[in-house]
Amino acid sequence: MSTGPAGSVVPTAFPEVAKSMDIPFHKAYITVDEVAEVIDAIKSGWFTMGPKTVEFERRFSDFIFRDSAVSEDKRFSVSLNSATAALHLALKAIGLKAGDEVILPTNTFIATAEVVTYFGAVPVLCDIEEVTHNMDVSKIEGLITGRTRAIIPVHFGGQPCDMDEILDIAGRRMQTHDQKIHLIEDAAHALPSRYKGRMIGTIGDITCFSFYATKTLCTGEGGMAVTTNQEYAKKIRTNRLHGISKDVWNRYTLEGDWRYEVVDNGNKYNTTDLNSALGLAQLQKVLWMNDRRREIAELYTRAFEGTGIIPPTVMDDRETSWHLYVIKTDNRDELYEKLRADGIGASVHFIPVHKHPYYRETYGYNDADYPVANRVFGQSLSLPIFPGLTAGEAEYITERVRRYAG
Ligand SMILES: Cc1ncc(COP(=O)(O)O)c(C=O)c1O
Repeated sequence: MSTGPAGSVVPTAFPEVAKSMDIPFHKAYITVDEVAEVIDAIKSGWFTMGPKTVEFERRFSDFIFRDSAVSEDKRFSVSLNSATAALHLALKAIGLKAGDEVILPTNTFIATAEVVTYFGAVPVLCDIEEVTHNMDVSKIEGLITGRTRAIIPVHFGGQPCDMDEILDIAGRRMQTHDQKIHLIEDAAHALPSRYKGRMIGTIGDITCFSFYATKTLCTGEGGMAVTTNQEYAKKIRTNRLHGISKDVWNRYTLEGDWRYEVVDNGNKYNTTDLNSALGLAQLQKVLWMNDRRREIAELYTRAFEGTGIIPPTVMDDRETSWHLYVIKTDNRDELYEKLRADGIGASVHFIPVHKHPYYRETYGYNDADYPVANRVFGQSLSLPIFPGLTAGEAEYITERVRRYAG
């Protein structure tokens, strides 16, 4: 047994990775805490959305808004089965329509663009900054047209975008053209992250988190939409379960009632209490897991000093979740193969949206419009960074990367 975050014990049965030099790209940090919560959910006999989900939403709001000025009655977290679902319902909540345009970075997972296409709306791609790999805020204004309804900043790897700049751009548009541009943040990587001291989740109109298997809080599959706008929260809540007018998960219980009305053409995007049970246990240790990731990032960055390897840069006014640790090197493909042969899992984030055949052919993106994203894509490699990675494993990784990179 070893000691984990306060109040938890890590059973030695789990970190079998430590025994071999096969290091996966990611391994969820699961301890007896998660096991106990899930058993509790199973024993209750109620597996779909229920009391664990209600509790997870409440505690998630408490966590995101804990040092903000937002009053308790304006803190809304709506649990969903993925961040993709959260982004979809966020765009539905702001009333996105066919022909509207939404600006987002080309350096993102396809889900960010895909949800825009659900409406017959157009994903307008923005090139990225060389340093943060986030959307280049100096290029946003040039992409705005009379049809722009939203911007989706993606906090790449956990490092927040320059939100003040983005808020300014949207605000200026409101003043000069009376055109509201909504900010729907893709925070799939950004739990917990801060921009100028403010938690990600407290800034834009709606913020969407992911609890996918590799994310900084993992429930297997899951997501959360966070907002301070009651109307948006209500719409997302209604649409996550078929457009039904009230929370009907308890309609089969004695507290509930079978009567309900369908008031929108909704979706089946609710989560389950089994996933929420994992979420409750993971949330307790999310800051501790962030500390472990930061320690690994610091170890990596120290090891790459004085080499040709470019480590990630975190801007002074931001704090990252360290979901990803992305290095840049000119021999990325060779490095990836050599690490793989040595039992080290690595990955690439992301193949830019404009390079995917469906998107290129449907929207006619021009590769030459995204020079920075293209360069960054060719050089980037994401190294393993997860709370259970031991110092020995991290040192082995840096030794191999130094040996092969450049
Ligand atoms: C930037 C980004 N946005 C959205 C998503 C979608 O998240 P989910 O798998 O929870 O739908 C991901 C998932 O990897 C992502 O990396």
